[in-house]
Amino acid sequence: MKYSIAVFVSLIVLAAANTPSREEVLERLAVIRSTQRGNMNIEAAEGEFLSDLVRQVRAKRVLEIGTSNGYSGIWLALGLRDTGGKLITLEIDNGRYSLAQQNFRDTGVAPLIDSRLTDALQELKKIDGPFDMVFIDAWKPDYGKYLELVLPKVRSGGVITAHNVTSHPRDMQDFLARIRSDPQLKTEIVNLGRGKQGISVSWKK
Ligand SMILES: C[S@@+](CC[C@H](N)C(=O)[O-])C[C@H]1O[C@@H](n2cnc3c(N)ncnc32)[C@H](O)[C@@H]1O
Repeated sequence: MKYSIAVFVSLIVLAAANTPSREEVLERLAVIRSTQRGNMNIEAAEGEFLSDLVRQVRAKRVLEIGTSNGYSGIWLALGLRDTGGKLITLEIDNGRYSLAQQNFRDTGVAPLIDSRLTDALQELKKIDGPFDMVFIDAWKPDYGKYLELVLPKVRSGGVITAHNVTSHPRDMQDFLARIRSDPQLKTEIVNLGRGKQGISVSWKK
């Protein structure tokens, strides 16, 4: 009931603010992915999955490590429009960070996003939890360090997701070993889209 009211209120606010519709954002996402190549974006099917997961968790606070040009962040924000939540996203590269700002504005999701040009390994030491959901998609050998830093900041019942777990297992062996064995986590792997790059979904007990 509380969730229905939140969705209803979000719809009214979106209409009043003349925010792009879901269909308009999806069209823009398709253009971004096809015209801004080389930004290592997830696939649309994976974006849809993450967006749905935001809704399923009823996430209010989401953290993304590895913004790139903002493609996956916009998918996360589509879910957050429905839950009334916000995204913090971290990117170390100035060019991709700037492009993300433009893409967040163009799709109308900028007000939902705190986008930071920073080294996530340093920034994560300063960010306070709790988070409902985390999406890791940066330098693969650092995934183990990201997990170490974010795990205490995720609430019980929250979820840590990570990209490329099927395509790059050798680059993140410590991360994969921990999500499979840490008693605080229950992990499943989903393989979506043509690339089947793999997203790990680790629920915190
Ligand atoms: C695979 S791309 C992210 C793609 C994005 N999630 C998407 O699907 O649209 C990885 C990004 O992580 C960034 N990155 C790598 N190491 C980082 C760090 N220590 N802190 C912040 N960003 C980092 C890279 O610059 C790159 O833009």
